[in-house]
Order: sequence, then C-alpha cells, then structure tokens
Amino acid sequence: MDNGHSDLYPPLERIHRDAHVSSFEQYKEMYQRSIEDPAGFWDEISKQFFWKSPPTGEFLQYNFDCNKGPISIKWMDGAQTNICYNALDRNIDRGMGDKIAFYWEGNNPNDQGSITFKKLLEEVCKFSNVLKKIGIKKGDRIAIYMPMILELIVAMLACARIGAVHSIIFAGYSSDSLAGRILDAKCHIVITADGVWRGAKLLNVKKIVDDAVDICTKSSHEVRTCVVVRHLSPSEEDVSNLKHDENTEPPASRPSLKLKINWHDGRDVWWHDIMTGQSPECEAEWMMAEDPLFMLYTSGSTGKPKGVLHTVAGYMLYSATTFKFVFDYHPGEVYWCTADVGWITGHTYTCYGPLNNGATGIIFEGVPFFPDAGRFWAIIEKYKVAKFYTAPTAIRALMKYDDSFVTKYDRSTLKVLGTVGEPINPEAWLWYYNVVGNKQCAIVDTFWQTETGGHVITPLPGATTTKPGSATFPFFGVVPVILDEEGREITEPNKEGYLVFKQPWPGIMRTVYGNHERFETTYFKKFPGYYCTGDGGKKDSDGYIWVTGRIDDMVNVSGHLLSTAEIESALVEHHKVAEAAVVSHPHKIKGECTYCFVTLKEGETFSEELGSELKTKVRTKIGPFAMPDFVQNAPSLPKTRSGKIMRRILRKIAVGDRDVGDITTLADETVIESLFNLRPDDA
Ligand code: WTA
Repeated sequence: MDNGHSDLYPPLERIHRDAHVSSFEQYKEMYQRSIEDPAGFWDEISKQFFWKSPPTGEFLQYNFDCNKGPISIKWMDGAQTNICYNALDRNIDRGMGDKIAFYWEGNNPNDQGSITFKKLLEEVCKFSNVLKKIGIKKGDRIAIYMPMILELIVAMLACARIGAVHSIIFAGYSSDSLAGRILDAKCHIVITADGVWRGAKLLNVKKIVDDAVDICTKSSHEVRTCVVVRHLSPSEEDVSNLKHDENTEPPASRPSLKLKINWHDGRDVWWHDIMTGQSPECEAEWMMAEDPLFMLYTSGSTGKPKGVLHTVAGYMLYSATTFKFVFDYHPGEVYWCTADVGWITGHTYTCYGPLNNGATGIIFEGVPFFPDAGRFWAIIEKYKVAKFYTAPTAIRALMKYDDSFVTKYDRSTLKVLGTVGEPINPEAWLWYYNVVGNKQCAIVDTFWQTETGGHVITPLPGATTTKPGSATFPFFGVVPVILDEEGREITEPNKEGYLVFKQPWPGIMRTVYGNHERFETTYFKKFPGYYCTGDGGKKDSDGYIWVTGRIDDMVNVSGHLLSTAEIESALVEHHKVAEAAVVSHPHKIKGECTYCFVTLKEGETFSEELGSELKTKVRTKIGPFAMPDFVQNAPSLPKTRSGKIMRRILRKIAVGDRDVGDITTLADETVIESLFNLRPDDA
C-alpha cells in the first residue's frame, strides 16, 4: 500500500460547487468545533429532528476508561423521540408524502415497484398494529430473516415505531447461525418470506427458518410466531389458474411453482392475511434517547457472534448526518446503496440514513451478474442514480469484464461513488473513478464498522482531496489515533499501529446485548481510554489515514467479517478432524479468503473429497459466503512450547512464502517443511 506519495484527486468543480461542505477549510473548521465541543455541535444538529421532549440537561455523558469504572456512553439522555416518526411522519409533514421513498428492483429486470413516503407510513403502521396484536411490546426482540423486498423495510420500521428491538439476520446465513442468533436474543417471533431468486438460483428461505426454529425448540426455546411474506410461492388460486411448466424459469412477477414450503399451523401466518383489516394509523411509541433501537450480530474473535446494540437518538443523529455529508445528499437525487439490509451498511445507508434525509433510495433484490455483468450500471441508468455505494469486492469482480458493460449505459447523473467493507486497492479505486465515474465523480472510501454505527473515517466529496486507497480523514466528532503495542501514540508518519478512537461520537454502539463485560473486554481493555477497532492503520506525512486491515483473528471475506475461531469450530465438528487452524489468505476478488489447516484423527487419511466435504461443512454451518477456498492436510501444526499455534507462520505457509521469520520458540521446527510440502496445488 501507499506511503503518501500517490496521486492526488482534488474535489471536482461540479461536485464542490454546491456541496454541503465545499472546501477543506470548511471541513477543518467544522471538525475542530465537533471535537472541542461535541455537545454543542450535535445539539445544533439535533434541532432538525422531532423530539417529543427535547434534549435538556447534559447532552453527553461518558466513560471511555475502564480503569475509572464501567464503560458507558449516553447522548441526550432523558430526551424522547422515535426514529420511525422522524423518518416518515416528519418528512410527510414537510410535504414529502408523495415522494418516492424506495424503488424496488427485482432480481428479474422486469420486476419492479416503488413506494411513497405516505404509503410506506401506512404499511408500517399496519404492521406495527400487527406486532401489537400478536403481543409484542417495547423492548421485545424480533428476528428478521428476509430477502431484499420492501416488506423488510416495513418490518424494521414497524419495530422501531413500537419500540421493539429488531435483530436482522442476513438471509444468507445458515439455519444454525440463524438459530444461534434467535436463541441469544431470545426472540419469540421471526419475520421472513417464502423464498427468493438470487440470480439464477432459487432459495427456499422459509425452509432455513423452519430448520432454525427446530434447533431452537430442541434448546427449549419457543418461537411462537413466524410471519411469512408470500413473495414467490403460489396461492391456491394461482395454482389452479396457472398451468405453469415446472421446468421453466418463472416469468417476471410470477410465483414459482418450484418452491414448496412447509406450513406449521398455529405458528406460521401469512403477512398478507395478518395485515388485512389493520388500521393504517399507529401512534409512535415515544422512546427515551438511550433505549435500544436494534441489535446486529457481528463475528467475535472467540467464535461466538456479538449482538452489537445501538440506541435510538444517537444512532438517528449519526446515521442521518453522515449520510447527508458523506454522500453530499441533495433533495431530489436518487441514491443507491447495494448492501443487503442484513448488514450494518444496509441498516444505516439503505434504510435509516436516507429516510431521515427524505431521500429516494433503491432496494435491489438481485446480484451484480444477473442477467449479466452490466446490471449495476443498467440500474443506475434506469433510475438516474446520483449517489452510488458498493463494496470493493463487487468492483474487483466487475472490472474483470469488458468496460463496455459499463460504458454502454448512461451514467451522467452520477456524482458520488462510495465504497465500504474493506480496504480498496488503488487499481480498483482507479477503475471506479475512471471507468464508472468517467472522471466526473468523487470517490468516497468510507471506513467504519457495525460497532461505529456510521462512517468514522471518510472523505467528503466537495472538500477532501483523495488518494486512491486511503479513507483519508475523520468524520465530525471522531478522533482517530494510532497506538503502538505499549499504547503510546505513534506520531511518526507511515508507521503502522492499532487504529483506535479517543472519544465517543453519537453512533457508537452502547453494549453487547446481554454481555456488557464482553463489550468492555473486546473494545476497551487493551488500551484504557480508547475504543479499539481491531484494525491496523497508519498516517502518512500529509496526515491521511490508511487502514491496513484486521489485526485480530478476523478474516474479511468480500467485506464480510468472519472469525477464524468460528470456522475452526465448524471444521472440528467433522468426525475425522482432530484440530484445525484457519488463517487469512489474499484473494484477487474477495480481498481475503480463508485457508484451513486440518489435523486428522489417528488412522484417518486426507483426500481431495474430504477437503471438499470440509468446505461444505463450513458452508452449511455458517453460510455460503463463509466457504473456505483452501483446506490443507496438516499432520501437525506449528506450536510454541506452551502449545500456542503460531498463526503468523501458517499465514506464510498459506501463501508459499518461505521467509517465515523467527522460529526459535517453536516446539518442533520440522513441522514447517512438511506443511510446505503438503500445500494444495491450486494454492
Ligand atoms: C473493514 C462494515 C478498510 C475493517 C461497515 C472493519 C474497511 C470491518 C473499510 C468492519 C474501509 C470496512 N477500508 N477497511 N473503507 N470499511 N472495513 O462490521 O476491517 O461488517 O473493522 O462493517 O470492515 O466490518 P463490518
């Protein structure tokens, strides 16, 4: 990566002309104010929102130092509001009722829809009434496992409206992963859909939920209600009216008869049935600023996912404000974030951030390669997208194709192109800038985490001169510091260390659901006084921040964080495996992938078939996106005399680099040579 001498891309005239922040001086001035007087800075912003009872008293109280007592963060404590009210009712009151809140673009290019702010509010109120009717109260946790359809947005906003805590699980997770999350949060209701087409693949979503619920039942936990959106499967009427050939692709907007779902009377209810006759009005529950809004699971280095908890008011301010400034959003523009709502990017920048700015967004059900590699750019042309947000892994995958897939579509409406999820390599950055953006757009490489709630290090389109590969500078209220192993601040340029933050911003997580101690240990114990990201970073001589990737046992596969421990425990569940060690390995498209070393039990022999079986094991245990790329036989693993696996050495072996460094602490040095000899041919 770079050392500060790379090319500079100053803000373009067409972007900074009418930008919210239109010069670097203005950014610096606002930034200074935001860190010197965070309360004053955010208090002013809070005035744009509706408060049932406005913030009074102390605007910010916190303790970031675990030596001084429990970690706690409170913004606007005592004020009352509701994020759904702010996203919908407030905007409708401002005259935006007939404006489109979302376009829906199906997997099949002929499938589409849209919903206005007014209609969205009606649907949300109806579903809020449904939730109340089935006994959901403020504070109850609701599991949502849904494809990218408008009902997903309706469901999450309905939870927020009545004060229920949504826990959305990306609908690519396995039933095991889903069950673990339902159990941890003790959800008694799951909202889902029958199925979904993703590209040319049909997924039986309901079946995964059924299996997860069975796992919960075995653990003596009851899921009482399962609300199912009929997205694909036919009604009886459809079946009798439609002589549909089972072996052909489903026509657009038409149910697929291929999907057979099981129905559990008494537990399962159809969304459309239960919505019938509900009132389109529902008073918002007035929430205390620090009441929980949602939880979202993220991988933990011990293997057990953490339920990251965000609260109402701080998250509302932060998601809306970062959205406005980082995408430089102006009324009337169409904005598109390709992230699934099941990830934090979808929560903050598909749903809450845009809606609170009255923006028009797009919910895209499909994948970048269906029907061909031009799909993203076709959608940009179709909806005249101005602001576009996607992941480096998608960019890398798409740039392999001929540029004509991009250039044949009109992209002249585009102004800002964002990326998120992992470091973007300069080559991908430049393709995004030159080809997709036609040198007319600002690139914003946004660094943040599930835990941070919104962007924390990012350029601003009209103000920041960018360098390909650098996330540049902190957002308002964020104070990044690079620390060395001893916790001393590194001031020397280009020296890598731990990326940490010194003081809270409104969107930072408040706790790990049900386990505040884990919250403190994971993020605050290593360097008292700082929030620790788990990422490495450095500042170059111009003060630009370069995030260099995870420095804990986490692997970032296509922008999805996975813990190596989680994969190892899936591998050792196989009856032939005695021990497993998983490390990260560079991958051209995914950024990183996983490379697994497995030690078999006495008497077992390794084969290619076993390797594939183990890959499938991880896939079914965690989810398709977690499938390892490499599995290698490891008769023994490099360990220290005290028995600790030396992953540093395994990472070297995985890439075939014989320069393994210091091995004096190894119990048995011969292990290394034998592992080099057993590397799979394709590695
Ligand atoms: C990585 C996604 C470099 C990082 C919003 C972080 C990035 C993790 C960037 C969080 C970026 C995200 N540059 N690395 N622009 N954005 N990351 O919780 O390792 O799914 O800690 O949140 O992704 O992933 P998460």
